[in-house]
Amino acid sequence: MSATDIDYSQSIATLLRTETAVAHEEAEHSQGAGWLTRGELDREEYIRFVMMLYHVYETLEQGLDQHAAHPVLAPTYNPTLFARTQSLSADIAYLLDTPESSWRSHPLHIELISNPPQSFVDYTARLTYLIDHEPAALLAHAYVRYLGDLSGGQFIKRRVAKAYGLEDGAGLSFYDFKQLGGTASGTIGDMKKIKEWYREGMNKGAGDDVALKRLILDEAQVAFQLNTGLFTTLRAPKGAQLTGPTPAALGDPVTPTESSGTWSPAPADVPAKSESGGFAFGSVAAFLLAIAISQLVMVLGGFSGVKAFEAVMHRLTSAFSA
Ligand code: HEM
Repeated sequence: MSATDIDYSQSIATLLRTETAVAHEEAEHSQGAGWLTRGELDREEYIRFVMMLYHVYETLEQGLDQHAAHPVLAPTYNPTLFARTQSLSADIAYLLDTPESSWRSHPLHIELISNPPQSFVDYTARLTYLIDHEPAALLAHAYVRYLGDLSGGQFIKRRVAKAYGLEDGAGLSFYDFKQLGGTASGTIGDMKKIKEWYREGMNKGAGDDVALKRLILDEAQVAFQLNTGLFTTLRAPKGAQLTGPTPAALGDPVTPTESSGTWSPAPADVPAKSESGGFAFGSVAAFLLAIAISQLVMVLGGFSGVKAFEAVMHRLTSAFSA
């Protein structure tokens, strides 16, 4: 949908959810996101990723604190519930087995800071720019990160726990949210309530101001791109295939799968993968069979040559990335 087709009379929460669905999919299906969500990143690389998140949240949350009274930001300003900087710092220290006061001088962090990936620099630079020039647009960045953490982040937590031996919960505080107005750890049902609370707050902050809604929506697209960019900085796991299908969707932000309050991705949605890291014979056979059937349908339908081939490939890539 082009920008002119967008119905800005809808609430900002609805606009964000529907109009960023494609950008969400791109982030979710990126190669780096696949490594993260399948728990495949090398441990050190996972820690490096968390360090980048630390700096992103530190900048974002300093901005939210600085502009806490801004009328667009105030209704969702709730650092007790959302602030992640401190928990990221604690997790990094735990993962590196160093005191919290000294992980910043760890060689892994020194290397990150002295040779920062461009996408990481771009992300923090964008936040700094908004803090100084357009604080209302910080709402878009807070939305993209916090609602993401409350959604897919909860699934990633389980994969990360398993991959890096954190099943007792230590080193995972970044993924934990307390109950709304409480101190107990939130359940998936609580995450849902927090997201509703956040959506109401965003609607209050943006109100009916069309220019403001456009500003926030545009910035949310930027925020998704910056997150996709962050995934591109991830180093391939040792022995990983660098090409191949992106992971299947684990959920759809437009049509939520957690209406029951217990969202979990269907294992059948994840492409079959053999122990050796290659795709299972069944998947390949199904792919070849699908090509053959599609080709037959095309021929019977009167298509031939390059056009038919293009049409088949289009159908297949759509089918296999759906
Ligand atoms: C990496 C794999 C990911 C998975 C498995 C995933 C999964 C999901 C799911 C299932 C939802 C729907 C939850 C609901 O409707 O309440 C969701 C929503 C959302 N996700 Fe993701 N996601 C992923 C990546 C990301 C990334 C990288 C971002 C951005 C940093 C992100 C940001 C969001 C946001 C903002 C929403 C809320 C949409 C709305 O209701 O307005 N997600 N995600």
